Amino acid sequence: MAEELIDESVEKSLIQGIIDEIIGSPLNLILVGIITFLIYKIFKKRQPTEAAPAEPELPKLKKDFTVQELKAFDGNQEDGRVLVAVNGNVYDVTKGKRFYGPGGPYAAFGGKDASRGLATFSVTANEDIEYDDLSDLSPAEMESVKEWEMQFKEKYDFVGRLLRPGEQPSSYSEDEEDDQNSSDKSGGEEKLITESKEKPEE
Ligand code: HEM
Repeated sequence: MAEELIDESVEKSLIQGIIDEIIGSPLNLILVGIITFLIYKIFKKRQPTEAAPAEPELPKLKKDFTVQELKAFDGNQEDGRVLVAVNGNVYDVTKGKRFYGPGGPYAAFGGKDASRGLATFSVTANEDIEYDDLSDLSPAEMESVKEWEMQFKEKYDFVGRLLRPGEQPSSYSEDEEDDQNSSDKSGGEEKLITESKEKPEE
């Protein structure tokens, strides 16, 4: 009992000592003010980001693109959609806008065929308006393109094919769009992909 009382008074005098120390010196008061302000700033900054509502999702797109048409989808246009082509297939990378959108580290790939850049580890825009058939890439580089495509396929929605010059776009039926949330959606994509070109080896 007596020990508890001593403990309590020691604790009180310690706290009192700290308070006296802080208010006793203007420098300490300023430091406390700065610390409080910084803590406030940190929390104020964190809250809105954590609670930030996700951007409204754009309607799903199913369409083949020419290199020229793809160019318009670099995220600078009104709807902000970003498309990237890899290995002849176009993916909607809008949810990865922080990478491929304006100002992102891989903005050079937005609205472009990124295959060559990805294969050669070069984040530079492929400004060619012509279709790049990648025929000069080495087998290892082509393998890398296919591996990158697997990553895109896993993370992003398939939109359509990148059309070679003179190639006609496929018609993607309404039904397919309705089916896009169903589990066999990828089956449909696979079919379209394999129809158009060699399926990447896994
Ligand atoms: C110093 C060099 C590099 C560093 C430090 C770096 C760093 C990163 C990091 C940390 C991520 C993951 C971001 C996340 O998931 O939050 C990432 C993703 C990525 N990086 Fe790099 N990177 C570098 C170079 C490159 C190069 C040369 C390329 C291609 C030419 C590249 C293409 C990509 C792509 C396509 C993604 C995937 C973004 C997505 O998820 O859609 N990076 N990088």
